[in-house]
Amino acid sequence: MPDEGRATVNTLEPYFMPFTANRQFKSAPRIVVAAEGMHYTTDDGRRVLDGSAGMWCVNAGHGREKIVRAIQKQAASMDYAPAFQCGHPGAFDLAARLATLMPGDLDHAFFCNSGSEAVDTALKIALAYHRQNGEAARTRLIGRERGYHGVGFGGTAVGGISNNRKQFGNLVSGVDHLPHTHDLEKMAFSRGQPEWGAHLADALESVCALHDPSTIAAVIVEPVAGSTGVLVPPKGYLARIREICDRHGILLILDEVITGFGRVGEAFAAERFGIEPDMITMAKGLTNATVPMSAVGVSKRIHDTLMAGPAGVELFHGYTYSGHPLACAAGLATLEVYAEEGLFERARTLEPVWEDALHSLRDRRNVIDIRNIGLMGAVELAPRPGAPGARAFDVYLGCFQGGLMTRQTGDTIALSPPLIITEAQIGELADILGAAIDAAD
Ligand SMILES: Cc1ncc(COP(=O)(O)O)c(C=O)c1O
Repeated sequence: MPDEGRATVNTLEPYFMPFTANRQFKSAPRIVVAAEGMHYTTDDGRRVLDGSAGMWCVNAGHGREKIVRAIQKQAASMDYAPAFQCGHPGAFDLAARLATLMPGDLDHAFFCNSGSEAVDTALKIALAYHRQNGEAARTRLIGRERGYHGVGFGGTAVGGISNNRKQFGNLVSGVDHLPHTHDLEKMAFSRGQPEWGAHLADALESVCALHDPSTIAAVIVEPVAGSTGVLVPPKGYLARIREICDRHGILLILDEVITGFGRVGEAFAAERFGIEPDMITMAKGLTNATVPMSAVGVSKRIHDTLMAGPAGVELFHGYTYSGHPLACAAGLATLEVYAEEGLFERARTLEPVWEDALHSLRDRRNVIDIRNIGLMGAVELAPRPGAPGARAFDVYLGCFQGGLMTRQTGDTIALSPPLIITEAQIGELADILGAAIDAAD
């Protein structure tokens, strides 16, 4: 183990950690100090197979030389350029590359720095679009139960996770939610998309009837809900949501922060599921997580409408670091790596192997569901009575000790390895996970 990979942490206390049980973590910390390819290295020199692509984001694997070099080169030649009223080549080049990857008539990219910012940006663009279009009464935003759209006020409001909302008061007014699509009785152990559940999309008609569709600006959903445990959309569900939005002049935003960039075997899940959204939010895999960056893919119709407004600034919105030169360099290099190595296609090719490996855990104790699509998957465990999430947390810890990084969400272990994973590593992942499930009471 080379010394340069080692680092010690002198004090844990001042760091207020995000979405972490701080007190519990600091009593038994898990520290990683290096990453390469499919593996992390811990501070005590152990190798840990990355079963979660960091946090669903390192799609091309860690430490990719082409991306590292592009960032180094950009940092040395121009560290920063003003984002407003000024430009630099990388931002235009990356937007043009994205325009060729995005489905339908999505042909413009607005850059932000995180998935949360992309979501709030997309919601604001929806409001601005309708206003410019003479429909200023369209202000309602519709999300979905068990949806995760980041932690901005807009994203938290349209999100459907009670714990994420309850500390923060009223959030944004005029928000409603569709029911989630997860029903264990009807769809447990589905391989790929569940057959049951397309009709759940009809709840959008009820929401339209309640509020009157002329007050609704946009619906935002994740094609596959990631953070609440890989909830794969029932066959036909997303197409029906699209149809209802079209019927009522409502914009459809697909939050592809997790599903973008090959996770489900296409550049975007929109293609996999055969629908054309009006906007796509993306982040994570956009730069292989090397430099924070996100984007909103915007349709020609929305863009042209905003460009037809009064002369001057068309959208009073943006960030100091929108289109940051380092992020753009990272993004361009990342997209090259994906294309050169055919990683989106690789995810699709490996999908049957991945599916079989996960479903081989079906008979382990306490396993109540296994779900998969592309190279994402989840194993849901029966909750311990009176202690929701505790069993899955033990499994998560057991995996980490056993040499596998996963994500725990509620009573589910979620998995999304880098798309470079080998068949042998898929087997290893399933073995370590199975052993950790067996070891947890
Ligand atoms: C679907 C979705 N939207 C938005 C976000 C928020 O992204 P970020 O954490 O970069 O703000 C996430 C993060 O996991 C996500 O999964």
